[in-house]
Amino acid sequence: MMTRILMVCLGNICRSPLAEGILKSKVNTDQVFIDSAGTGSWHIGELPDNRSVKVAKKNNINITNQRCRQFVVGDFDEFDLIFVMDNSNYDNVISLARDESDKQKVNLILDQIYPGDNLDVPDPYYDEIHGFDQVFEMLNDACDKIAETI
Ligand code: 4NP
Repeated sequence: MMTRILMVCLGNICRSPLAEGILKSKVNTDQVFIDSAGTGSWHIGELPDNRSVKVAKKNNINITNQRCRQFVVGDFDEFDLIFVMDNSNYDNVISLARDESDKQKVNLILDQIYPGDNLDVPDPYYDEIHGFDQVFEMLNDACDKIAETI
């Protein structure tokens, strides 16, 4: 059966598009469906941020097929696992959950490598390009773990 995984951040232009692209590069996409979304609506329809595109490309991952979309309540039905990038995303998504089953799908992505530490993938939007390199490395390690365990 297809496992369905959704990556969520605030804008869906910096972190979650990278997480989507990285995880897709590590799994058999015939068996795992991966998408991403943002809790905010500012960038709907846009390409990922150029800095994310660049860092992904440097690591042989193309994310230019992605377009920003907003998280919707129906995503709780469409996905088995929802990985959020930070605690604020976690609160935003949990506030839309309808029941305990929805809530149990939501996980902080860095808990994959630092279980229980509740760490954030920092929002790199106002950062320099090196912030995007650091985000890539964190997501790469977390996605290695996800690919191993799904
Ligand atoms: P992301 O970064 O959540 O990693 O996509 C952001 C992108 C845009 C904004 C905030 C965060 N924004 O406020 O427009």
